[in-house]
Amino acid sequence: MPLTERHVAPSILSADFANLVAQVREVMDAGARVIHCDVMDGHFVPPITFGPIIVSALRDALPDETYLDVHLMIESPEKHVAEFAKAGADGITIHAESTPHIDYTLSAIRDAGAKAGLVVCPATPPEHFGQAELDLALIMTVNPGWGGQPFLRNQLEKIRRVRAMLGDGVPVEVDGGINPQTAADCAEAGATWFVAGSAIFGSDDPAATFREIAAAAGC
Ligand code: DX5
Ligand code: ZN
Repeated sequence: MPLTERHVAPSILSADFANLVAQVREVMDAGARVIHCDVMDGHFVPPITFGPIIVSALRDALPDETYLDVHLMIESPEKHVAEFAKAGADGITIHAESTPHIDYTLSAIRDAGAKAGLVVCPATPPEHFGQAELDLALIMTVNPGWGGQPFLRNQLEKIRRVRAMLGDGVPVEVDGGINPQTAADCAEAGATWFVAGSAIFGSDDPAATFREIAAAAGC
């Protein structure tokens, strides 16, 4: 799948985990190809979610063309990236704040056969993106750790700066508080991948909401 295509990536964080595969299939039937998986360790961020076992279960249950976009909110990600790649992650994104070994960890992701993404928290400046080779830049538009938080509008300027730094060849992904209105704002600023959790899975009709965000984002 060419990463330069525009995508809305439903985040399973807000899905019903007792019906996870059915919920993911519903948004895939509506056109989703990228599924965002939020891994939290209780240290880098307070909540704990899941590890490679769920990634592997999704890999087995979903069509091969599904792109599993794994967002690691964990300390020492360098110790775990190979395991997530083995579980079937197509892309693995690490936090610049989570390790002193950013370049090493991005290389380890690529060596393991996955696309390497780098993400920064809202208060972290975007200069990290110019310092390492990466396949995807993710900009948090809320503080990491929880779904359902309001979009931080002061990140729009960071999106513009990162798009100008990286050119058109690298996807700029946004994560947090994305709905049809904020997706349109982020698209205007240069984002091309749009993660949405509670807006999609918290809605009465996840498929319709997925299509609404995709239309607003110009997908
Ligand atoms: C938050 C996660 C997000 C989360 C977004 O730390 O990285 O992916 O699911 O949730 P919403 O779309 O509800 O802001
Ligand atoms: Zn995320």
